[in-house]
Amino acid sequence: MSAGTSGVGGDARPLVTILVDDVAVPARAGEMLTTALARNGLLRLRKSPRAGGARGAFCHMGVCQECALHVDGVLRQACLTPVREGLTVERRGVL
Ligand code: FES
Repeated sequence: MSAGTSGVGGDARPLVTILVDDVAVPARAGEMLTTALARNGLLRLRKSPRAGGARGAFCHMGVCQECALHVDGVLRQACLTPVREGLTVERRGVL
């Protein structure tokens, strides 16, 4: 196996780098953004607009809308967003 392609559980998808709140984070090309964030310990995705409580991915299938983030400047559901090299993610603020 070459460097950058071996992975946990035999995942051979290439490693890429995404930027989360301006910090470089490793991910696998094509995996869903929520998976990449969770693997890196990033479970808080935004704040609740009501009380400011932490919100995170709940359904992982595009129903709950709790995973809404700004991805490349556009509001998207992270659980339906495949990762690619250079993806930029902003978790800041209330959506
Ligand atoms: S986690 Fe529910 S819509 Fe993404």
